[in-house]
Amino acid sequence: MTRGSLVVVGTGIKIANQCTIEARYHIEAADVVFEVVGDQLAQNFLHSLNKNVVSLQGLYGPDRARSETYETMIETILEAVRSGKRVCAAFYGHPGVYVYPSHESVRRACAEGFEAEMLPAVSADACIFADLGFDPGWLGCQSFEATDFVINARKFDPTAVLILWQIALVGDRTLRVFKSDPRRVAVLAEVLMEDYPADHEVIVYRAATLPVSQPQVQTIALSRLAEAEISQESTLVVPPIGEAQASPERLALIEARLAAA
Ligand SMILES: C[S@@+](CC[C@H](N)C(=O)[O-])C[C@H]1O[C@@H](n2cnc3c(N)ncnc32)[C@H](O)[C@@H]1O
Repeated sequence: MTRGSLVVVGTGIKIANQCTIEARYHIEAADVVFEVVGDQLAQNFLHSLNKNVVSLQGLYGPDRARSETYETMIETILEAVRSGKRVCAAFYGHPGVYVYPSHESVRRACAEGFEAEMLPAVSADACIFADLGFDPGWLGCQSFEATDFVINARKFDPTAVLILWQIALVGDRTLRVFKSDPRRVAVLAEVLMEDYPADHEVIVYRAATLPVSQPQVQTIALSRLAEAEISQESTLVVPPIGEAQASPERLALIEARLAAA
């Protein structure tokens, strides 16, 4: 029997256009492609590359916690690898950015002695840097999952850019919520107003998913964040306030070390 293998790829955010040549090659060459790539157009793109595409998206459902869904996805992928198939698992965006079943499938396949790897791809934050025109190296940039940010009272630096993912589901620990709720978003805004002024302008961002569409960029005062149109694809970008302060002690330390050498 041929030994099974697994390659996990991302199709990027913008359908077809952001799928790398490398990812495309693995999609085309696989015996079976499991997909969690989003809407019908994205699925059609995969079907144009491989006739044996199996969707795992139907595993999501209101009666099922996402953790259960993820476990079923992982085991479905692993079963095909164990049966000797050359398996490709395709997720939208970057397959390793805020995606549990992708990492876990690779980990389990490797632990069972199969060849398995993940390929990088274009993620939502990659689109943010291009569409909103800033370089994360200019001011610094920190990134958190929104629920993690709120519940764990994360320490962060308001003089750097702050990116919060999955704001539609903020505060959900049941993993059973699928729709945005302004009451949740209002709590997120309150938490942010502990560090930023109420009139601080933040950006609710949604990258274009179609080659013909444009990114959605809603700029809104923090105090009004709950009024913004927020979908499962929305990411919050909070611009910095103030400037980072240089530490004279650390500057002196570097100079002293260099002088001593
Ligand atoms: C489960 S994560 C998946 C991220 C994806 N793997 C990536 O590489 O961007 C879902 C979150 O990604 C962000 N996201 C997904 N699609 C997006 C889009 N079109 N524009 C902006 N952010 C998006 C949102 O924060 C959303 O809640």
